[in-house]
Amino acid sequence: MDSDPFSTDRDYLRQVQYGSANNLNARIQIHKRFTKSTQAWEDFIFEHLPDLSGKRLLALGCGNATQWRANQHRFAPDAQIVLTDLSEGMLAEARADLMGDNRFTLLCMDAANLEFQDNNFDFVTANHMLYHVPDINQTLTEVTRVLKPDGAMMAATNGANYMVDLDLLLTEFWPEYGGLHTMSLKFNLLNGAEQLQAWFGEVEKKLYSGDLWVTEAQPLVDYAFSLPRVQQLIPLDQKDAMRVFFQVRIDQSGGILIRKETGLFLANQPKKP
Ligand SMILES: C[S@@+](CC[C@H](N)C(=O)[O-])C[C@H]1O[C@@H](n2cnc3c(N)ncnc32)[C@H](O)[C@@H]1O
Repeated sequence: MDSDPFSTDRDYLRQVQYGSANNLNARIQIHKRFTKSTQAWEDFIFEHLPDLSGKRLLALGCGNATQWRANQHRFAPDAQIVLTDLSEGMLAEARADLMGDNRFTLLCMDAANLEFQDNNFDFVTANHMLYHVPDINQTLTEVTRVLKPDGAMMAATNGANYMVDLDLLLTEFWPEYGGLHTMSLKFNLLNGAEQLQAWFGEVEKKLYSGDLWVTEAQPLVDYAFSLPRVQQLIPLDQKDAMRVFFQVRIDQSGGILIRKETGLFLANQPKKP
């Protein structure tokens, strides 16, 4: 079941939730600033990418390309990296940074319809985006079609109880909210392997340990109001009251613990359509 009615609505995703990078940036900020992990998420992603020397990589739903910009200095000089996203607004932020680096090509494209010839890429990434695709099988057909026979895929996602501690707090603050904020129920760390196994001979799961210890209230409010479910159910004029609510918790305990479940799948041996 979807956590919210908009998680796969292309118009909503393109124009509202990801019309610009603002919502995604509010979420990335809280992970960056308050993680208990000693390894940055971008480093974890890089660790699981192949050496791209002489290779072609396609990224689906790349967003504002945070992972690619953070690792820009590490990619081989002859790598060819094609970054795609449904939303031009998301790509706009990435273009400014990556412009002039001829290893990168940025294209506005729906993951359901990849405008590339068969057997074109060595590696495809679909990080935190497959749960937005209305028909995951359709996208995986496209992925296996454009992958070379010895190509592979990375698909990062969240667990089914992703940041449930935040949902419990939001429900305490605003009882009508009651529910999960995660958009990743359709493709998560529990049900993702099975979906990939229909299209790949070998699927491996890698978990990232990155619980949050949040010591400032405002970034938590910004995070909450970046979420479709909060935007739908909690009026904007509650922002100040929410900040005070979080601040009281922080003052009591020194911070707020938000457990995360995040990781990625590596899928090899594509079953060609
Ligand atoms: C949660 S963001 C993840 C961005 C990036 N991959 C990351 O991990 O930081 C999801 C992205 O998927 C994009 N997206 C959603 N549906 C898509 C589709 N059908 N085809 C391509 N991109 C899509 C959104 O525009 C958004 O930029």
